[in-house]
Amino acid sequence: MTGEASSFPQDFVWGASTSSYQIEGAVAEDGRGKSIWDVYSHTPGRVANGDTGDVSCDHYHRWREDIDLLAAAGFNAYRFSTAWSRIKPDGSGAVEPRGLDFYDRLVDGLMSRGIAPWLCLYHWDLPQALQDKGGWTNRDIVRHFADYAVVVARRLGDRVKHWAMLNEANVHAVLGYGSGGGAPGVTGLENMTAAWHHLNLAQGRALSALRAERADLRLGTVIALQPVRPAAADEADRRAAARFDAFWNGACLDPLFRGHYPAPIAGEFAHVIADGDLAATKAPVDFLGVNYYAPSYITHAPGSLLGLRFGAVPEGLPVTALGWAIDPDALVEELVHLRARCGDPDLYITENGACFDEVVAGDGTVHDDDRIDYLSRHLDAAGRAIAAGVKLRGYFVWSLLDNFEWSEGYSRRFGIVHVDYATLRRTPKASYRWLTDFIARQKNR
Ligand code: FCB
Repeated sequence: MTGEASSFPQDFVWGASTSSYQIEGAVAEDGRGKSIWDVYSHTPGRVANGDTGDVSCDHYHRWREDIDLLAAAGFNAYRFSTAWSRIKPDGSGAVEPRGLDFYDRLVDGLMSRGIAPWLCLYHWDLPQALQDKGGWTNRDIVRHFADYAVVVARRLGDRVKHWAMLNEANVHAVLGYGSGGGAPGVTGLENMTAAWHHLNLAQGRALSALRAERADLRLGTVIALQPVRPAAADEADRRAAARFDAFWNGACLDPLFRGHYPAPIAGEFAHVIADGDLAATKAPVDFLGVNYYAPSYITHAPGSLLGLRFGAVPEGLPVTALGWAIDPDALVEELVHLRARCGDPDLYITENGACFDEVVAGDGTVHDDDRIDYLSRHLDAAGRAIAAGVKLRGYFVWSLLDNFEWSEGYSRRFGIVHVDYATLRRTPKASYRWLTDFIARQKNR
């Protein structure tokens, strides 16, 4: 087994990540408003097997058990997201105190076990009431998001010190507002660029608002970042890969760190940019969260949304059950590259993990050796990035629990803890035990 070669600093952050809609369930409880994922998942044909997040892992009621699992594994941080529609059921109006109360209890529970809460304000579950007014394509959302951020910070900012504004604006803009492969299922290039820009702008405004609110918060955001490679070694695929890189990585990083969109695609955002916007998107951050799973292989595809699509993974590279390449070297490459591109910020791997088809064995456990191998090789890569001088400060595994994997529903499992969706019973997998030992060894070096 690899992974042991690496040693991590004593103050390294060891965490697990989840998100509200993927685990909470209890969708009609305590005044929660509908989110776009409620509506999308209840639309026939959108999600595999007609699965919805109505019950999911029932974390809303079982959170004590879940944070016991975090504590027993030795995690010292937990990244979760707040559901906007629990806190402001219609997105912009009255605050629902019972929604805030839930996260308040969760935060206290984490802290009493020595686990630092890392709060992400938005993991794709937009209040449906705002989507009814255009969602992220309507500029008004920028104001609503900043207002919501301040409400959460006023309640939890005395205890929660690490705040991520958004989870993966790039994935949300492309799937939710470009291809329609995720909620709210809107399509088209102009909708996608409008949503993308408003996500960037809302992020910038929320960063500034929270900075003004309290000086002791560590503020950042989370982006899905990955090396992009042409699927074939020809000019058309090389151009397609460069275009995808400009959108996927560039249209999140450059507005945030440089105050502009990458030159080759800037014109495609022009229709939605107003005076002063690009100064506002470039708000200082204390950290950048990197979600890394795999590099992408791109092939040209005339007539499609961006003129490209995902191509085949090169022969010989292993893949997960979702067909994603397993390539830890690409994680090192990405982290090293970010130093130059973003001015060497503090980095955290805020998601990393893998989905495999797995079965519960007769002894009730899941022997997920392939996940252990994936995690071990990526932790080794994280160690190599640190050795190369990257300011990598922490690692969060995706995910604590098997959960609602968006349009794949419950058919895809990423957890280090198995969830039986019929009984809601949690069973730690072999990878949970392995990670527990790994963290303990790192702490006790
Ligand atoms: C990321 C998402 C996360 C989960 C993993 C597998 O893009 O942020 O919610 O679905 O992929």
